[in-house]
Amino acid sequence: MLTKTLITSLLLEGTLVAAFPNIAERLAAQKLVERIAPIAPFPEYPGSPAHALYDSFDASSQLVSTSGDNAYQAPGPGDIRGPCAGLNAAANHGYLPRDGIATSEAINTGLWDAYGLDKTATLFLQTATMFFDGDPLSGRWSIGYHSDLTQSVPIVGDILGNETGICAYGHLKTEGDASITRGDWLAPEMNSNCASYPVFAQELLDLAKNRTGGNITPQVLAEHSSNRKAYSVATNPNYFSPVYAGVAFTFGAHMFAYELLANHSAEYPRGFLTPEVFESFFGYTRDSNDNLVFTYGTERIPDNWYKRAADDAWTLEDILLSTAQQCLSYPSNCEVGGNTGEVNSFSGVDLGDITGGLVNSVTDLSDPARMGCFISQAIQADVPSFLDNVFNGAVLQEVLGMIDTTLIPALQGLGECPNLPAGKSVMQYGSTYPGVKAMMSGTRNPY
Ligand code: HEM
Ligand SMILES: *[C@@H]1O[C@H](CO)[C@@H](O)[C@H](O)[C@H]1NC(C)=O
Ligand SMILES: *[C@@H]1O[C@H](CO)[C@@H](O)[C@H](O)[C@H]1NC(C)=O
Ligand SMILES: *[C@@H]1O[C@H](CO)[C@@H](O)[C@H](O)[C@H]1NC(C)=O
Repeated sequence: MLTKTLITSLLLEGTLVAAFPNIAERLAAQKLVERIAPIAPFPEYPGSPAHALYDSFDASSQLVSTSGDNAYQAPGPGDIRGPCAGLNAAANHGYLPRDGIATSEAINTGLWDAYGLDKTATLFLQTATMFFDGDPLSGRWSIGYHSDLTQSVPIVGDILGNETGICAYGHLKTEGDASITRGDWLAPEMNSNCASYPVFAQELLDLAKNRTGGNITPQVLAEHSSNRKAYSVATNPNYFSPVYAGVAFTFGAHMFAYELLANHSAEYPRGFLTPEVFESFFGYTRDSNDNLVFTYGTERIPDNWYKRAADDAWTLEDILLSTAQQCLSYPSNCEVGGNTGEVNSFSGVDLGDITGGLVNSVTDLSDPARMGCFISQAIQADVPSFLDNVFNGAVLQEVLGMIDTTLIPALQGLGECPNLPAGKSVMQYGSTYPGVKAMMSGTRNPY
């Protein structure tokens, strides 16, 4: 559990620097080379401070198998892949079901075996995602667009539900705008939220080249995330950033790209992420002119790749800490709201209003404990309104009943949050924005 002391020490640069003098030197050096310095530098090693000191490597337990049952195989007809590089690569190597339909057992064991993502994180992600994008009765959800295979029982009329999956019409639930390389769902162009766009991947590689000489680091990813949000505000009249998908999840994915995809070695026990490893995990190859080419569904775990160590796992607490650290370094990343139908028309919602006073400013969100309760509150407000779009009748009543028995217990990992006020759902606080429409099928609004 996050203590007030830990939080304070993480956030006051002075304390962090006093505790870890080697970081102080690196931060100082970093400030000199940064062209546009963030308000407070994003940490070189985000999450719990213990990661910054981690110094062990064990080749045999960290090598991830890419042979036998775990051999790479591109998806076959009917197999689903989507916006998540990590889930796609896991499915292509049999760490998740190769058909792209996630189950709780597969998520909890597969993401640990392949990447060292801790159970505190997988339990939370699995539960939130099955409520938002899948079937809470069976725990199944699609790692891409809609699939009939997630339903517990075959669809009869529309009474048994029609789950969205994590991309396409799953937009605004888990999937949000300004992703690392995916498009914005309601942008005028480049608007697949399932597929990756080379222009955004190239921007990340260029930024890494400018900042580190080539390797992708958490600081590079944090800056890319800020660039991507600025790009969406400037180009997408319907850009919208809700609490969970926009402030928390998209940034969480930016951190996953380093924390879970970096290669490890005795020399680099805290990981290093080369452009080549990034391209393999993201399904990229090069054409004869050396330009990036994305091929849908071909995300691949490289051979001879070493995951993070078991005693240095990435946890739900790390997700909260790094998401809060984002709000200190890049406050505009943490604004909730969107464009109002024209580019560069971003209008933020009143955080105090949507949270019943839990959070009153973006600065409040640099407190990880408050960030945890902010996310928990948003999920509790969003889930019923989204379930209502997907299910009907007796099935709706049953899945709504599971909020208390199944969802709320899985949110405990976000913090205790006593006397949490009821929050507003994105469908309420976003109702006047063109980027917030509950579309389940058909022509995507507002086009
Ligand atoms: C249950 C677990 C997970 C769920 C539900 C999930 C879901 C998603 C979703 C919905 C997106 C799109 C986010 C956006 O709109 O920006 C995404 C992106 C991403 N995820 Fe995951 N993910 C999970 C686990 C992982 C793991 C284990 C990894 C790494 C090993 C990972 C790496 C990424 C990356 C790098 C992206 C960004 C892709 C891009 O923008 O091009 N995720 N994930
Ligand atoms: C279910 O939703 C998908 C989009 O998520 C849509 O393409 C499909 O037509 C829907 N099916 C039914 C039976 O409504
Ligand atoms: C990288 O640096 C070059 C040269 O200063 C600049 O033109 C380019 O915009 C930078 N790219 C990114 C993504 O920061
Ligand atoms: C990971 O790092 C080790 C040690 O430097 C190296 O031998 C291996 O080739 C790297 N793997 C990849 C996929 O780059």
